[in-house]
Amino acid sequence: MLPGGAAAVKHGRNLWSDSGAGGSGLLLNRPAASIPVCRPLLPPAASISRYIERIDESRRYANFAPLVLELKRRLAEAKGLQETQLAVVSSGTQALMLALRLLAPNGGLCMVPSWTFAATPGAAHWAGLTPWFVDIDRDAWALTPALAREALRSAPGPVSAVVPVSPFGAAVPCPEWDDFRDATGIPVVIDAAAAWDALEPGRAPAVVSLHATKALGVGEAGVVVSTDAALIAQVEERGNFGLYGSRISQSIGINGKLAEHTAAVGLAALDEWPTRRLRWIDNACRYRAGIGDLVTFPPGFAEHAVATCVVQNPWTTAEELGRELEAAGIGTLRWWQEACHRHPAFAGMPRLPAPESERAAAMTLGLPMTPDLSIADIDYVVDAVRIVLGADR
Ligand SMILES: Cc1ncc(COP(=O)(O)O)c(C=O)c1O
Repeated sequence: MLPGGAAAVKHGRNLWSDSGAGGSGLLLNRPAASIPVCRPLLPPAASISRYIERIDESRRYANFAPLVLELKRRLAEAKGLQETQLAVVSSGTQALMLALRLLAPNGGLCMVPSWTFAATPGAAHWAGLTPWFVDIDRDAWALTPALAREALRSAPGPVSAVVPVSPFGAAVPCPEWDDFRDATGIPVVIDAAAAWDALEPGRAPAVVSLHATKALGVGEAGVVVSTDAALIAQVEERGNFGLYGSRISQSIGINGKLAEHTAAVGLAALDEWPTRRLRWIDNACRYRAGIGDLVTFPPGFAEHAVATCVVQNPWTTAEELGRELEAAGIGTLRWWQEACHRHPAFAGMPRLPAPESERAAAMTLGLPMTPDLSIADIDYVVDAVRIVLGADR
């Protein structure tokens, strides 16, 4: 426990708004403009144009056109996969729906952690499954194979699928989930939405989002990876009206395809990925060095590139900390806000008690993290967090 931690939080407001100095000037050199919590930065027109020119020439705008195929190839290569082991689709949510519908076609319960983004249970619902909320492990910030096994003993009905979720880009133990699937026979679809960099693919399909807010962002897109190429072929078929190599539907599908113009952005994003990746990691390292003694980050934070800096601290709630920081011109966001079973949309869904999910929801706060965040901005946020939490008073 820090000396005066809770008290500092209680009186923290004085530092920023009631000091009579028009804000935080007495204690911190406040930047002229507020620091946004998130401000995506996609490749500029100059980097995309050479790809767009290729589209102008080919006049192929959709339906697995050349740039989409090139993106698929390059993404697979980046993960050490064959191109047959990665599918590119129109969003992460669409990818989750396709994989779930494929592996659990007959309905039933879909085990999902209560602490996740609404897209996870939403995709389960749209895949014809009933989200069944279970708790997370405190240290992992996630549903673990051990917790899932334990939860199965209390299942209110047949469980058709499990969706573990990577918390804010943390690595997912894919081999352990493959073991879980082998031992229980229950299909696993991994929601690794923010975990492009940390992901080490296994057999269970893993879904990554390439939404603009992600570390490797293209706007709206998603990928599915699996070492099982046959499974990926089926995902592609389902995402293409059930068509595969002919005009006759082999299965009932949907349109989950990626537009060629989005692939152009994706290829430009991959061109700059090595630099961008290091930038994300540098930002994370600076945060970790500045407040790592005060807050907890998601497991593996700063080892991989992620587009969020999400923290928990034992002295104050995310809401209180957020309020103090906002008053100092620092944007914050409770990314997943409440545990999903607390959302009106999911209130009637079956669930197990989820105290750790509720704790995580109350404690987790996103701090500013943008690829072009300056060192001075990070240092300002670090100083502000330290003052609010009472560490430097
Ligand atoms: C945990 C999680 N799952 C799924 C998604 C959905 O991805 P998309 O926005 O690409 O549909 C997100 C998006 O942020 C997410 O955070």
